[in-house]
Amino acid sequence: MASSSSSYSFKSSWVQRFVPFFLAVWLFFSYDCHGIIGANAATAPVKVNGNISKVVDAVNFHIYYGQTFKVIKNSIDGKSYLLIQNNTRMAARTKYCTSRIKSFVIPLSNYSIDADYFPVSFFELLGLLGSLKGITSNSVASQCVLKLYEAGEIDLIPNGEPEQVAKFAAHFITNIDQPQACNFASFVPYGEDNPLQRAEWIKFLGVFANVESRANQVYDAVTQNYQCLTKLAKNRTSFKPTVAWMEYDNDTWSFAKETYKLKYVEDAFGENVDDSINKNTYNISSPDDLDALHAILCTVDVVIDETYTWDPVMYNSSTFLQNINVEDHSCFAFLSNQSIWRYDKRVQNSTALDWYNGAISQPQLVLADLLEVLFPTGNYTTTYFRNIAKDEGVVNITSEMCDRDISSAMEPTLPACA
Ligand SMILES: *[C@@H]1O[C@H](CO)[C@@H](O)[C@H](O)[C@H]1NC(C)=O
Ligand SMILES: *[C@@H]1O[C@H](CO)[C@@H](O)[C@H](O)[C@H]1NC(C)=O
Ligand SMILES: *[C@@H]1O[C@H](CO)[C@@H](O)[C@H](O)[C@H]1NC(C)=O
Ligand SMILES: *[C@@H]1O[C@H](CO)[C@@H](O)[C@H](O)[C@H]1NC(C)=O
Ligand SMILES: *[C@@H]1O[C@H](CO)[C@@H](O)[C@H](O)[C@H]1NC(C)=O
Ligand SMILES: *[C@@H]1O[C@H](CO)[C@@H](O)[C@H](O)[C@H]1NC(C)=O
Ligand SMILES: *[C@@H]1O[C@H](CO)[C@@H](O)[C@H](O)[C@H]1NC(C)=O
Ligand SMILES: *[C@@H]1O[C@H](CO)[C@@H](O)[C@H](O)[C@H]1NC(C)=O
Ligand SMILES: *[C@@H]1O[C@H](CO)[C@@H](O)[C@H](O)[C@H]1NC(C)=O
Ligand SMILES: *[C@@H]1O[C@H](CO)[C@@H](O)[C@H](O)[C@H]1NC(C)=O
Ligand SMILES: *[C@@H]1O[C@H](CO)[C@@H](O)[C@H](O)[C@H]1NC(C)=O
Repeated sequence: MASSSSSYSFKSSWVQRFVPFFLAVWLFFSYDCHGIIGANAATAPVKVNGNISKVVDAVNFHIYYGQTFKVIKNSIDGKSYLLIQNNTRMAARTKYCTSRIKSFVIPLSNYSIDADYFPVSFFELLGLLGSLKGITSNSVASQCVLKLYEAGEIDLIPNGEPEQVAKFAAHFITNIDQPQACNFASFVPYGEDNPLQRAEWIKFLGVFANVESRANQVYDAVTQNYQCLTKLAKNRTSFKPTVAWMEYDNDTWSFAKETYKLKYVEDAFGENVDDSINKNTYNISSPDDLDALHAILCTVDVVIDETYTWDPVMYNSSTFLQNINVEDHSCFAFLSNQSIWRYDKRVQNSTALDWYNGAISQPQLVLADLLEVLFPTGNYTTTYFRNIAKDEGVVNITSEMCDRDISSAMEPTLPACA
């Protein structure tokens, strides 16, 4: 958050000229738009250009609609984006670039992304890959972005310096702790607490391209499928398996606390191990800690091993057991029942995990995976999770795997839900 306001090109003359106008507009809409667009239609009919998106689940962004512009407010970094329709007089006259407000002319004619951990799948679902023209790294977990890159359609801008990406109409970033130029826009679905809220950020990107109706349609389909799978899970009469998301680093095991991970387990009708323990980290070089860890693991049915590795291909159950450092495995149900999972099944060049890409925009696939993880049928092929207890390997993402027309929108994959 240490945003370097010095790097903003602060055009004070614009600000003096337009901020009063902007604030007037802002106040008008703040007054008017608490959830109901065009509430005062009697006095000032709002003719919205195209369809509108309403944010229903996510809590960290808001969209307001004017006649020729839209405003997105991102409450994670406090920035607002004024999006001006390209066919209006305002588009040619107005430009904002302050530490709080930036303007963009929409629909964007092109854009670039800060590729590290960027969930580019949101753009694929919207059908906007055709105008992606720059990436900061070719370590991207999307077969179709790789294909475009290999075909020379996308430039590699290795450092993503502001002057290098200045030629693009917008540069989208997820890491907000970096110097930001006037065309930078922060996209932070990771800031939300539950899986559906994160997926709803598709509406945030939709407004930049006037594809609100597509964004709404994708989010509705994803939500319906997710909720249907949740109901299916709740209908179970069997016992709830205990699940531990756990990670090893620097001699220490820790159990995940992130709300969205715990929520996935609840929605899949599992029990989080976290509810029953009061300590979160266990140093395996300390005999007391090791004993306590051993005891907890004796209660766990399903392990999700999140341990970072630079080489997922080589990470197998031996690696896990070595890191656990407990000799006596006799009480480990996850071992006897072969249920040790990692979310690095889909990976590109050993580094970019699709877990940080497709899994954010399509949480219904994660939930379907977890249902199979918790209640195996043997009939469902998981997308993101691989079972290292059964020696399942990774799937290498390559450009050859892109088998769809890139100019059109990607359809969400909706697992069967009776
Ligand atoms: C809004 O979207 C619906 C469904 O896609 C479409 O029928 C309608 O014409 C759109 N309205 C506008 C104003 O674009
Ligand atoms: C506005 O954007 C649309 C869609 O990209 C494009 O067809 C049109 O030519 C643009 N209009 C202007 C005035 O730039
Ligand atoms: C991106 O669009 C802008 C106009 O918004 C244009 O000036 C620029 O040349 C385009 N850049 C690329 C790389 O297509
Ligand atoms: C839940 O179970 C009931 C009774 O077995 C059944 O009628 C209903 O269709 C089930 N619902 C779902 C979503 O599977
Ligand atoms: C590992 O933990 C020790 C003890 O807390 C600490 O001194 C050391 O800096 C840590 N090393 C890394 C790489 O985090
Ligand atoms: C773990 O415990 C060992 C032995 O007590 C100690 O030397 C080491 O610094 C601890 N590591 C961490 C990360 O706390
Ligand atoms: C072991 O897995 C089977 C399905 O493969 C399941 O029915 C059983 O409940 C599991 N047992 C434990 C202790 O998790
Ligand atoms: C895990 O990988 C190591 C190194 O390749 C290998 O020696 C070991 O046998 C593997 N373990 C299992 C359970 O496959
Ligand atoms: C894979 O990653 C390595 C190291 O990061 C890099 O040197 C290599 O060029 C990459 N290969 C491809 C095909 O991108
Ligand atoms: C697996 O799928 C087949 C075909 O769809 C179906 O007949 C069978 O009942 C399924 N088995 C389980 C355990 O769900
Ligand atoms: C994936 O790529 C690695 C090298 O990066 C290779 O060792 C491994 O065999 C590949 N796995 C598959 C399933 O193709």
